[in-house]
Amino acid sequence: MADLTRMIEIAPSILSADFAALAGQVAQIEQAGARFLHIDVMDGHFVPHITLGPLIVQALRPYTQMIFDVHLMIERPERYIEDFARAGADHITVHWEATRHMHRLMQQIKAAGCTAGIAFNPATPVTGLEFVAEHLDVVLLMTVNPGFGGQTFIEGMLSKITQMSRGLPDWGKPGCLLQVDGGIQVGNIARVVQAGAEILVAGAAVFGQPNPAGAYVALRAAALANRV
Ligand code: DX5
Ligand code: ZN
Repeated sequence: MADLTRMIEIAPSILSADFAALAGQVAQIEQAGARFLHIDVMDGHFVPHITLGPLIVQALRPYTQMIFDVHLMIERPERYIEDFARAGADHITVHWEATRHMHRLMQQIKAAGCTAGIAFNPATPVTGLEFVAEHLDVVLLMTVNPGFGGQTFIEGMLSKITQMSRGLPDWGKPGCLLQVDGGIQVGNIARVVQAGAEILVAGAAVFGQPNPAGAYVALRAAALANRV
């Protein structure tokens, strides 16, 4: 019989990791059971900070089997899709606000051999997805304004998550997942899961903790306990 329970995954974000010891940090959470590694790419234009590029993704690739979930917070991401795919990205998320030709970009990500996601900033309404649904694997709702780790979850996003999780079956292709990113921690993960989120990014709440593996396990347990 098919397993109909809703998928819940924690995707630790390396933004809060020790960049001088990345491979070891990543190994810790992989051993603890993490399947997704969230990689935040910032360009100093779409968001104020600059973080990392394909070279770091490529350097990390031999050290882990985890699914590389690359979140491009960059302007005109169409310029770099193939570079990140070649470096080892499995999934690439681009921002609705960062490109003009989203349909073509979705096709480009697929042609590069990756699954595709679209991210929406907190103030961006979610519209138009039915026109790219055939290519879309993940919808990412930002629950902070992108650009920094360790920010406070925006409570008003709970209703956006609820609305989206109810709407997804109407326009999304089967299996399209709802991801949330920003400010997720042990104190609010229950509410976020209850609202319908399926992939939960967590940076400060995992790699910002003294014991990232233990923090990952605790977050996952809290999320699973509240699966609806
Ligand atoms: C924010 C990034 C997030 C960030 C989340 O711009 O997209 O992925 O790392 O970090 P926390 O969980 O610390 O808010
Ligand atoms: Zn992110």
